[in-house]
Amino acid sequence: MKKSDTIIVLDYGSQYTQLIARRVREMKVYSEILPWDADVATLLAASPRGVILSGGPSSVRDEEAPSMDPRLLESGIPILGICYGMQVLAQRLGGRVEKGCRAEYGRTRVSLRKSPLFEGLPGELTVWMSHWDQVAELPADAAIIAQSESGIPAGFALPERGIYAIQFHPEVAHTVGGQEILSNFLFRVCRCEPTWDLGEWVTSMTEEIRRKVGNGRVVCGLSGGVDSSVAALLTSRAIGDRLECIFVDNGLLRRNEAAEVLEAYKTLGLKVHFVDASARFLDALAGVVEPERKRKIIGEVFVRVFEEKAEDVGGAEWLLQGTLYPDVIESGHKGKGAAVIKTHHNVGGLPEVMRLAVLEPLRDLFKDEVRKIGALLGLPERILERHPFPGPGLAVRCLGEITPERLDVLRGADAIFLEAIRNAGLYRKIWQAFCVLLPVRSVGVMGDVRTYAEVAVLRAVEAQDGMTADWYRLPEDLVDAVSRRICNEIPGINRVVMDVTGKPPATIEWE
Ligand code: XMP
Repeated sequence: MKKSDTIIVLDYGSQYTQLIARRVREMKVYSEILPWDADVATLLAASPRGVILSGGPSSVRDEEAPSMDPRLLESGIPILGICYGMQVLAQRLGGRVEKGCRAEYGRTRVSLRKSPLFEGLPGELTVWMSHWDQVAELPADAAIIAQSESGIPAGFALPERGIYAIQFHPEVAHTVGGQEILSNFLFRVCRCEPTWDLGEWVTSMTEEIRRKVGNGRVVCGLSGGVDSSVAALLTSRAIGDRLECIFVDNGLLRRNEAAEVLEAYKTLGLKVHFVDASARFLDALAGVVEPERKRKIIGEVFVRVFEEKAEDVGGAEWLLQGTLYPDVIESGHKGKGAAVIKTHHNVGGLPEVMRLAVLEPLRDLFKDEVRKIGALLGLPERILERHPFPGPGLAVRCLGEITPERLDVLRGADAIFLEAIRNAGLYRKIWQAFCVLLPVRSVGVMGDVRTYAEVAVLRAVEAQDGMTADWYRLPEDLVDAVSRRICNEIPGINRVVMDVTGKPPATIEWE
């Protein structure tokens, strides 16, 4: 596929690495993330116009610290080092990094000298710093281009070699002028053309799918979420009704969800096969309370149901999946040896069981790009902006035993909560909002009658990517109204509580 100019972001482990790559793409330059120790030949094969070294949690003074292949410095490709990236550059170029007498963290003022990197910016900026080490001695021939309030070098450059380094983070919103700094690097230093265009991406990806699949057939599992929906729309544009979409109702969806989602897909002209497998899932889950067992059972039943339906509709050679770039990066070079907190599964295991080749048209894209493409393809707002919903659905929000009755209680409370959030215009500001039903009964009183019923939890969080989250400060009046409505309208609940825990230490879902 035709690609625009490329910037490689080398990942030294910063929580902001993906943000750097997204910022670059927002300026219409294609970017890719590679691990810091990626083979230089692989890196050069992408013919990048420039390389950005991310920040990271290590100290270059440690023996095992992530370093940098010197061949990259000799390649003549412009380099921008950010935070840890600046220290790696300083050290590699013969300068000296030492532990500072105090850490600089958070908002800091820096003064800027004249440099192509700072073109169009004032002489002083408020920037976001987060470091302990500092460059004590600059590499020979390097010039200071920025200095922090405490006199520490906050940036240096070797302009004739296209090498720039800054101690602060231009990619975060707290750094005033950060976008201009990145833009200067892309367009003044690397001389990139802003040609990464999602409209063009759609055209060439459609052609690529057509070429890859040939006369073959593709199956896909639709979930109602944005990723699988966009992947399906794109593929149906490429190969028409040789795409068979399967939508499984596992009995764990929210109120009216199956009907709403099916209606949307019908309007979009997708060929969707609906399977109501609620009874199968609920039978398999009967009496199960342990979260990981629930997840495992749901995954296994899903694979079986999907496989049967796929055979039913005539089989296929390809399985379409809505894998995104962050998943590719995470599975590629992060998370090695990470502990399993929860088994995440949606259609995991399917390709092996069904011996299908996998088609992943969105694997180069970030979520915000997928949303933009969804909009280009005419996906309705309701699907585009939908909060993430876990594959195992309400099973992980209905704590304790899953019964049709308890699921109905949960659906009722959840619908009231979401309606209030939508009406208050808060839906898009919140990463996820939902109710959880606890298998705990408490005493209440309604109309002079004693009640003994279960507890609903209101959970609303804000997050960038779901990896970390903070609980959302909902207006008191909204919480009050929701609490009253739930207790009045949903038999089975007589108490509403709110989850005020971030992630970490909690997770977003309760199971
Ligand atoms: P946790 O609960 O781990 O969730 O903080 C992080 C994000 O992932 C979603 N989630 C899932 N998504 N399949 C999914 O596709 C799953 O099995 C699953 N479990 C959790 C969760 O809703 C949140 O957005």
